[in-house]
Amino acid sequence: MFRRLQADAPSATIFFGDQAIPCQAGDSVAAALLAAGIERFRSTPVSGADRMPYCMIGNCFDCLVEIDGQADRQACLVPVVDGMRVRPQEGTGRFDTP
Ligand code: FES
Repeated sequence: MFRRLQADAPSATIFFGDQAIPCQAGDSVAAALLAAGIERFRSTPVSGADRMPYCMIGNCFDCLVEIDGQADRQACLVPVVDGMRVRPQEGTGRFDTP
């Protein structure tokens, strides 16, 4: 559904579950995941319906994911960092304790 307009060599890799996602420095997490074909970012707490990014500017909260064990991260506002671990957020999410 989404594709990059300019396909430069990947400069970073993030992980969505066990899937390695090559991405560019400066990508948001949402942009990197969408460019990799990932369209399910979270489920809603009440009905469990699937959600994916909608606004890409931090207003809709449909892009919430867990990043490096922290829930409620807006994927459209977080820049990728090499080695970052991302998971879909199920319902209200969970917090890993180190
Ligand atoms: S896509 Fe709307 S807040 Fe991230």
